[in-house]
Amino acid sequence: MGRLDGKVAIITGAAGGMGLAAAQLFAREGAKVVATDIQLELMEKEVANIAANGGDAIAVKLDVANEEDWQKAVEAAAAKYGKIDILINNAGYGTVGNILASTAAGWAKVLSINVTGVGLGIKAVIPHMQKNKGGSIINTSSTSALRPEITISAEYCASKGAVHALTKHIAAEYAKDQIRVNTVYPGAIFTPMVEAVGIPSQEVYSEVMKEKAPLPPHAGLPMDIAYAYLFLASDESKFITGVGIPVDAGMTL
Ligand SMILES: NC(=O)c1ccc[n+]([C@@H]2O[C@H](COP(=O)([O-])OP(=O)(O)OC[C@H]3O[C@@H](n4cnc5c(N)ncnc54)[C@H](O)[C@@H]3O)[C@@H](O)[C@H]2O)c1
Repeated sequence: MGRLDGKVAIITGAAGGMGLAAAQLFAREGAKVVATDIQLELMEKEVANIAANGGDAIAVKLDVANEEDWQKAVEAAAAKYGKIDILINNAGYGTVGNILASTAAGWAKVLSINVTGVGLGIKAVIPHMQKNKGGSIINTSSTSALRPEITISAEYCASKGAVHALTKHIAAEYAKDQIRVNTVYPGAIFTPMVEAVGIPSQEVYSEVMKEKAPLPPHAGLPMDIAYAYLFLASDESKFITGVGIPVDAGMTL
């Protein structure tokens, strides 16, 4: 028996990194997965791999900052699977740099994906979860919300701090509807996002993180986050709302 048998999960940013690990793990645990990303072709390829391994998933193009895309995605999920139980607000966009190098356009892009995108997703699924008499929403923040003094960018840590606050706000508002809302705070995880800023391997990232995250291997892999998503998505966490789990090799201890 799977830990998510019978549940329908929408995952954003599922074409790579943590979102892809979550899509693969959730399908293995019996969920019907609505795997969404801006990279539709790549998403379709990964969904075909999930299906080849016996999973049930569809690929949907979704830019989290676009409200119309959200409406189409929830409609596609409801049309295909009849309900929505889980939303993993995983998609994110990172920048590197000091505030003096930041621009209004940079701030707008980070906030639209990392904050507005999370809010629009919550807005889109809540009516479905109310109809369904419950649900689980998991937002992806970052250790940069908890240790902003060692983070890589002003606008990124501000956006992830907003996710922390938004989680608690929505959790309080919708607990009455049996809708749970929690956060995962990833630490250093080797993903395409990290490769894009010039870190070539988990080993190199581990070396970089050695002084900040005491638990070896200091930098993790996407599946380390997917397991935290799984716990918070499943009924195993049915008495938990409005909190967060740092998955960070002790960076925030
Ligand atoms: N990698 C880390 O060390 C780390 C640490 C802390 C937090 N995070 C957060 O974890 C989450 C996942 O990060 P990751 O490292 O797996 O990222 P990633 O860049 O490897 O993958 C993110 C996915 O999101 C998609 N995406 C980007 N913009 C999008 C948009 N507007 N709409 C929909 N999809 C979009 C990308 O196409 C990509 O497939 C993000 O929210 C990120 O900020 C990552």
